[in-house]
Formats: sequence, structure tokens, C-alpha cells
Amino acid sequence: MFYGTGELNELNHLEIGGCDTIELVKEYGTPLYVIDEDHVRESCRSYRNSLSNLHENSEVIYAGKAFLTMEMCKLIEEEGLGLDVVSGGELYTAIKSGFPAKRIYFHGNNKSYNELEMAVKYGVGRIIVDNFYELELLKDLAKKQQNKKIKIMLRLTPGIEAHTHDYIKTGQFDSKFGFGMENGHALMALESALSIKGLKLMGFHCHIGSQIFEEEPFKDTADTMLRFAKGARDKYGFETKEIDFGGGFGIKYIEKDKPLTIHNYISVLFKSVKESCQRYNLTIPKILIEPGRAIIGEAGTTLYTIGAIKNIPGIRKYVSVDGGMSDNIRPALYGAKYSAVIANKAGNPLEESVSIAGKCCESGDMLIWDIDLPKIAPGDILAVFSTGAYHYSMASNYNMLPKPAVVFVNNKMARLVVRRQTYEDLLRNEVFVPHSNSISLANF
Ligand SMILES: Cc1ncc(COP(=O)(O)O)c(C=O)c1O
Repeated sequence: MFYGTGELNELNHLEIGGCDTIELVKEYGTPLYVIDEDHVRESCRSYRNSLSNLHENSEVIYAGKAFLTMEMCKLIEEEGLGLDVVSGGELYTAIKSGFPAKRIYFHGNNKSYNELEMAVKYGVGRIIVDNFYELELLKDLAKKQQNKKIKIMLRLTPGIEAHTHDYIKTGQFDSKFGFGMENGHALMALESALSIKGLKLMGFHCHIGSQIFEEEPFKDTADTMLRFAKGARDKYGFETKEIDFGGGFGIKYIEKDKPLTIHNYISVLFKSVKESCQRYNLTIPKILIEPGRAIIGEAGTTLYTIGAIKNIPGIRKYVSVDGGMSDNIRPALYGAKYSAVIANKAGNPLEESVSIAGKCCESGDMLIWDIDLPKIAPGDILAVFSTGAYHYSMASNYNMLPKPAVVFVNNKMARLVVRRQTYEDLLRNEVFVPHSNSISLANF
């Protein structure tokens, strides 16, 4: 039986980080995002050690889009990773948490002037330039800096097809991200970046997609990027100091997922970098990677309370939970698959095949199709695994559902990291003049 990062305890309950999930539900309610802190820290260390053991001049940057709260920033800081942010909001979160600006990498395909200005003001480590418009904005900003150069990298699209869902592929030529290598835009961007006085080009970045299980795309990417670095040296005399290969390392959602180990991913990438550097007579540059999902994904479990059960004999049994696409958009968006257990009957035999429905008003709001579970009753607690990445960060208030709370568990202790939204929170930003005859909601 797959229990995510948890295990079965003597009460027949699912336990995560030494905490009984049923006790967590009593304390914090459902839906609830539970993050196994030890698992997150362990992943951070594995990535850092695997890479630095092979190449000291390296850095692991956590991709904050996967899951970002101030507490997470603190953890990432403590573990010595850098942080990738993609918006003013993510940057603000990091800065507010006290994360060192120098270790922040600012991404995004449409950064506004204000966002860039904010990044420069805070002194972020690198701005990853995505397009020619951004180069123009930076040229303007650079003029206003006194004797201080803005350190940048150029995001390139290496034309690599990773075998993953279309929406999470980003390295192919036909993409909204980055400067295309195939049409010469990458070289034009390089020339332009080198010509802008106030900018200091440090190297290149790419990210080919997410949830990748194969070695081949990483190998091909390494070679393509280094071939480009050779071209940059031969044509412009530019010495590439650093290459950021992005994230995309796959994780386990369901039993049959077989991702490579962290060490495998890193050694495949590094071997290819080393060989290509030899081939092109280049010094191995600083190597950066940006895992998001692989740091936080498997560490997350979402707990739901089961409510309505609708049986259509001979067709399907729909089991509804008190969350859905508002806390997990991935099944509706990518057809993502999950495994789950009944947390209060975690060791019971599997007796029926059911489908787990969310409570949002969309037929497509189905969290899991056809899963085998023990006999279910309303009030049971469903635990869905590997929900740490792109769940809380993608959560919405669709159907005016308050966003769930987030707790970190570790060493038999739970601590609230994000409190559950209230109905009041949902209305907080509304500008509304009540009718004179409106009733009091004081009791709700
Ligand atoms: C530029 C960049 N870096 C890193 C990541 C993280 O990817 P993953 O969570 O698959 O590791 C993404 C994801 O979209 C990305 O766009």
C-alpha cells in the first residue's frame, strides 16, 4: 500500500511526520494541506549534496511557484538553497520572510517595469530575461543605476521535446517562454544583452518542462546549451559563467510512477555537461538547477472529509469530498492522477472501486477516477498523496470556497503555517455599500 510520506499507525490511521492525521483533522478541519517538513528538508539536502559532490561550483534554486509561503522561504533559506520567483507577489513574499535578495532569481515571461524596478531595488541575484521587450525595460532601468550593473541571464528555448503534458512543456521551440535558438533570437538577444552597458550577462537559462521521467531530454538539453555557449564564445568572445538547467524532475503520484532517483537525475545531467564541455573545449560553468515539484510535491498530503455518496448501479459510485478543483486544479487542468487512502481506515482491505468528486460546480471537478478503497461512509477522511506542489499555490476561491489551511508536521508536532480562509476573508477586498434593509450576518 502506498502511504505517501506517511505510515500506518496502531490505531489503523494514517500518520505523517509522527502526527495522526485524524487528530490533525480534529484540530485544523478539512480540507487541509499537510506538509511533511522532514521530507522537504531531506529533498533539499539530497539535491544540494548530489550536485555539489559532482561539481562544487553549483547552486540549487527552489522554484517557489510550486509552493510559496513565508515559512517555506525560511526553510529554503535554512537549507541553503536559492529561490526562483516569477512575480512581484512571490518576490514580496520572499523579501518579507527575510530571504536574502542575492539568492533570489527573478523569472517570468511578462515582468512589468514595476516588478523589474522592485527586483533591482531589492538587489535580487539574477534577473532571467525572457524576451526583447524585457531587455528594453532593463536597458531603461540600467540607465538609472549608478555604477551598479544589473546581473542577468538569458532564458533560451533549446527546442527539446520532453514527454510530458502539453501545458507543462516549456522547452520546445513553439513556446511563450524564452529566446528561440532555432530562429536566431537567442543570438540576437545575446548580442543585445552584451551591448547594454548597465547589464552584466552571467549566462543562460532553460527549463524544458515538468514531471519528466526520462534521462534523454536532460542529456540533450545539456548538450544544446553548451553548444550555444561555444557559439557565444566563438562569435562574441563571451565566456559563459553559469548555466541554469531549470527544474522538471519527476515525482511519484501513483504506484506505477517510477521517477529516477535524485542522484540519477543529477548525474545524468552532470555527465552530459562534462562531456559537452570537453567536446566544445569549454570550462565547466557554474551549474544551477531549479527543482520545485521535486522538493515539495511528495511531501504534501491533502485531507478531505467525505460527504455525499452517489451510487449509479452498474456504472459508477461518486464519492464527494469537501474540496476539489479549488484546492487541486491539476486533474482538471492536466488530467493528473493521484493515489489516496481512507485515513481513518488506512489498513483496511480494498473493497470497492469509486470515483472521487470535488464539490465545485463543474462536471470536470473530479479528483480521482476509479480508485480502489475500503468501504466508505460519509464522515470518513480521504488522504490524497503528493499534493505539495502546484496545489496550494494554484488554489482559487472558485464557488467562494475558502482556501484550506496549511500545516507543517515534523517529529510528532504540527504547526499552522497558513490559517484557513474565513468567509470574511472572501469578501475582504469587495467594495460594497449595503442596502439599508440588509440583514445582520453577525451569527454566521
Ligand atoms: C523556469 C522554471 N524553473 C523551474 C520550474 C520548476 O519546475 P518543477 O516544479 O517541475 O521542478 C518551472 C516550472 O514551471 C519553471 O518554469
